[in-house]
Amino acid sequence: MNSVVDFINVNRDRYVDELKQYLAIPSVSALPQHAADVRRAAEWTMESLRGAGLQNAKLIETPGHPVVYADWLNAPGKPTILFYGHYDVQPVDPVELWTSPPFDATVRDGEIYARGAADDKGQVFMHIKAVEAHLKQAGSLPLNIRFFIEGEEEVGSVHLDDFVRSHKQDLAADVVVISDSPMFDRGIPSICYGLRGLAYFQIDLRGTKSDLHSGSFGGAVANPAFVLAQILAQMKDRGGRVRIPGFYDDVRELSEAERAEWQKLPFNETKYRKELGAPKLFGESGYSTLERVWARPTFEVNGLLSGFTGDGAKTVLPATAMAKVSMRLVPDQHPDKVAQLFEDYLRKVAPKTVELKVTRMHGGKPWMAEFDNKFVRAAGRAIEKGFGKPPVFNREGGSIPVVSTFQEELGVPSVLFGVGLPDENAHAPDERLDLGNFHNGIIASAYLYQEIAELNE
Ligand code: BES
Ligand code: MN
Ligand code: MN
Repeated sequence: MNSVVDFINVNRDRYVDELKQYLAIPSVSALPQHAADVRRAAEWTMESLRGAGLQNAKLIETPGHPVVYADWLNAPGKPTILFYGHYDVQPVDPVELWTSPPFDATVRDGEIYARGAADDKGQVFMHIKAVEAHLKQAGSLPLNIRFFIEGEEEVGSVHLDDFVRSHKQDLAADVVVISDSPMFDRGIPSICYGLRGLAYFQIDLRGTKSDLHSGSFGGAVANPAFVLAQILAQMKDRGGRVRIPGFYDDVRELSEAERAEWQKLPFNETKYRKELGAPKLFGESGYSTLERVWARPTFEVNGLLSGFTGDGAKTVLPATAMAKVSMRLVPDQHPDKVAQLFEDYLRKVAPKTVELKVTRMHGGKPWMAEFDNKFVRAAGRAIEKGFGKPPVFNREGGSIPVVSTFQEELGVPSVLFGVGLPDENAHAPDERLDLGNFHNGIIASAYLYQEIAELNE
């Protein structure tokens, strides 16, 4: 391993230069005008895997954006890793809030700023470079590996469940490895063993056939903006509890053991609040902040649109109102079941004065794993070698829809070893990745393959 680590240290600057090229491709999966860029990012990923020495590098078409596949399966008798990540990124708006252009990666104070730096191109690239170091330096990998990098994660991985089901042989492995999450805190590497799920909707209300003079008609018809506010206000009580009947039926309670573990984590609530710029934290009563985010479901409004929002004042009665809303789910809630409960409740609380349209958008199942297994222990040793510290174990509030599918369809455990930081602005302006963590992450990944390979000996 020494020569592999030497190789990684010597090539430190080259990795950053190459990552800049990857980050320059605006692979925004949500926006149709970027479809060609998304494909270009898929091709770039494929070339980079090929250049690292992997075999069978190819794009596999799906009804949406292509999947990138590559493998190296020349270690008979050794375990096989399925590495999963995504090459698509979130939209960049509001672009004027970026300090440097989102697709012109810029290094400041040891961090690389660009859309996709942390989520997820930087973390995918880290593994490509770890494989490259083994193959260039040792001529071989200590185990077998398949790369499976998708281009629709940020839009809900809608075609991936079918893909996994119909490609089980191509994805066969002993363990899934994913780097697509933050570590617990700066200097505190972590292994994530739980993710929340998601159910996302658009609500459209129409009150009248067009906007109206609010003096001539105000008081005679319902105002859809007001009705929307009334509807949304009924989704949660003042204690932060979701009011949809049946919503909590399948929620697995946090075990006392888990709660006790989380209380030991170095979490500073005041620092957390100040960093967010929130006057006061708010969440479901009876739970701590970490519990609220990691182990409890929530209902959130993601966006609202109605009426006149320009400068000045306009006396108008809007014809329509729109909201994007979503629920984060925890084990053992199912997105389809929750969707039905939500729609039933919405129809019940919506008054007859408006026309209601609900559109189901993407969803994803929650995931949680036993983390006392040999792969997680191997990852713990590798992380300690890369970061000089053993990891803590955490859950996360975000979602990666395919992870529970891997568990159900392939029957193999996943190890989530992320090197982002919680304040690296994933999905927001000035997304960045700490280059020290990126570098240590390459070393830890290189050790991870070695540690997993040795499990069979
Ligand atoms: N990398 C994130 C998931 C994540 C975020 C894991 C925070 C752990 C902590 C992923 O790219 C993501 O943003 N997922 C979406 C999924 C959705 C579009 C179905 C999410 O969580 O909103
Ligand atoms: Mn991601
Ligand atoms: Mn994301």
